[in-house]
Amino acid sequence: MLDPQHARKAFHAELCKKFAHPSNQCSHSIPRFCSAPSLNPILTTPKSSVNLLLKFWSSSIGKKWLVALTGLALLGFVVAHLVGNLQMFAGAAKINAYAEFLHANDKPLWVARLGLILCFVGHIVATLTLVKMNRAARPKAYAISRNVQAKISTRTMALSGLTVLSFIVFHLLHYTLRVTDPRFKTVAEGGQLDTVFDVYRMVVLGFGNPLLSGFYIVSVGLLALHLSHGISSVFQTFGLESKRSAQWMPTAGKLLSVVIFAGYASIPTAVLLGFLK
Ligand code: HEM
Repeated sequence: MLDPQHARKAFHAELCKKFAHPSNQCSHSIPRFCSAPSLNPILTTPKSSVNLLLKFWSSSIGKKWLVALTGLALLGFVVAHLVGNLQMFAGAAKINAYAEFLHANDKPLWVARLGLILCFVGHIVATLTLVKMNRAARPKAYAISRNVQAKISTRTMALSGLTVLSFIVFHLLHYTLRVTDPRFKTVAEGGQLDTVFDVYRMVVLGFGNPLLSGFYIVSVGLLALHLSHGISSVFQTFGLESKRSAQWMPTAGKLLSVVIFAGYASIPTAVLLGFLK
């Protein structure tokens, strides 16, 4: 739960920024020193915490928190899904039993799916609104584009995000709905439909196509790039960045992203090289 004092402070700082309010007149925590109280009724009238929270979400700081929190939840899914998928290397029986276990628990599976969809939509909507807010707040275009100094990962955030989005749409059609490859309809274990679905065989058949494997590898590469930047931004958003942590956080983000990339890419690569067959 968000500390109301913190939310108040953050919201006030936001207003000061928005209205170019001189910071030497304002401590952000003592609103009566602020020359813009009429623009900011929340600071002068006591309101319910729901109201405060709503105001917070509608501020750009609130949006940043939403992007960061949903991003963390999605990162959790990416790591958990990777751990599940790596069971491909433990053999067909293991990964098929895992898939069967997931599908046998219908209710928790649908709750998790719903949570995932909400996080996904929240992440995208908050990001787009934030971009729009930032553009609107910018007085005029910079003479020299800030992009010139931005890192590759920052510049490609939108591109990598969009690629990951299209990858996920394809991936769901491919391995969850199984509508892209007619062979998947017949890969039930033991050659019989309506028995345990053979996820292992489906993945091996799917990645037998080098073009498709290449598409997966490039997509998880872009996902890793997206995560690499996202992870360090999360710490900045939560204000957890100290001088010391600013040095190791980007490295830790990169390391985790490389592990995620290597883990996901290892599956199509192993199929193409004949280690998984
Ligand atoms: C080599 C890489 C990957 C493999 C082999 C793989 C494999 C699979 C398989 C077999 C399923 C269907 C599970 C089932 O219905 O039993 C699945 C579902 C899914 N995958 Fe992946 N996946 C990979 C990468 C990814 C990545 C990078 C993401 C996200 C960024 C992702 C997101 C999902 C989602 C959202 C589902 C749907 C889960 C559900 O049924 O609710 N996958 N994946």
